[in-house]
Amino acid sequence: MIVLGIETSCDETGVALYHSERGLLSDLLYSQIDLHRDYGGVVPELASRDHIRKLAPMIRQALKDSGLVPRDIGGIAYTAGPGLIGALLVGAATARSLAWAWQVPAVAVHHMEGHLLAPMLEPEPPRFPFVALLISGGHTQLVEVEGIGHYRILGESLDDAAGEAFDKAAKMLGLSYPGGPKLSALAESGKPRFVFPRPMTDRPGLDFSFSGLKTFTLNTLQTTAQSEQDKADIALAFQDAVADTLTIKCRRALRQTGLKTLVVAGGVSANTQIRASLRAMAEKEKASIHFPRPAFCTDNGAMIAYAGCQRLLAGQGEPLAIKAKPRWPISELASPG
Ligand code: KG4
Ligand code: ZN
Repeated sequence: MIVLGIETSCDETGVALYHSERGLLSDLLYSQIDLHRDYGGVVPELASRDHIRKLAPMIRQALKDSGLVPRDIGGIAYTAGPGLIGALLVGAATARSLAWAWQVPAVAVHHMEGHLLAPMLEPEPPRFPFVALLISGGHTQLVEVEGIGHYRILGESLDDAAGEAFDKAAKMLGLSYPGGPKLSALAESGKPRFVFPRPMTDRPGLDFSFSGLKTFTLNTLQTTAQSEQDKADIALAFQDAVADTLTIKCRRALRQTGLKTLVVAGGVSANTQIRASLRAMAEKEKASIHFPRPAFCTDNGAMIAYAGCQRLLAGQGEPLAIKAKPRWPISELASPG
């Protein structure tokens, strides 16, 4: 079965074609970063309009690139939430309309399930059951995963998501949106000079809190001359604290569940220092660790096509209704079978 995947939950338009036996046939991504940069963050209305402008031509391009025609497509998967409602509706309405016109099933995909399953697109995919650390701009969650649709939240952020904390700290350091990758680049020239706290690691449990690190970043910045070196040193201290906190909690989750496989996904999992710190921990714990390739850590259509394909193969399709949910807990998902 060939599935068309559509991702429009935030500021990236993603379109992919996934073949259930042959893998990815096409994967196109258009980022709206330039559009939102002047505003310092995503402007929802601009995002929706830009998805409308880009989506149909990208679908046409994906079909053309892979030498396919609409009758080759067996189903359509679209991100139905969580995300920006206007942006989601563009993908949902397009997917539903095409499914109706092409007489194929459509399936509403949960954006975080897409992230969670992204490592399945790699040559050595993880095997169920596993612990998943989801770290994106909107979510920070530790999930015990028994299979597709069997998700138990072990812990989550009580305030800012990891990506959100990166973006806010980056803004304080004068870096432009989206700041996460820029802060990480700046940290490379940082020297180990400051030590930031590791929030909530001194008490039991698997929840996170990152908002205090923002205040710590600001306070530290104000005690320096704010030279480029000062900023790089602060970026490094911030990144160290996030990496270390995530690592401590993942170790705890592995030990608590007794599972020996860790999956890490979502935009922040592209961070090299976080990847290295988690990898070293997994090695010590004799656990296997799986990340998506960096391009599939951040938003993309491939992960949506893959997740939707698994649900469509299991016979899950939905009645003709356009579904978009700005808020949607992953623990509410049912298994497709
Ligand atoms: O998963 P994603 O693309 O979108 C959401 O679902 O939110 O994640 C975006 C987040 C942003 O906060 C961005 O700054 C962060 O991931 N991010 C990074 C890196 N690459 C993306 N944060 C730290 N280091 C990176 N290399
Ligand atoms: Zn995402």
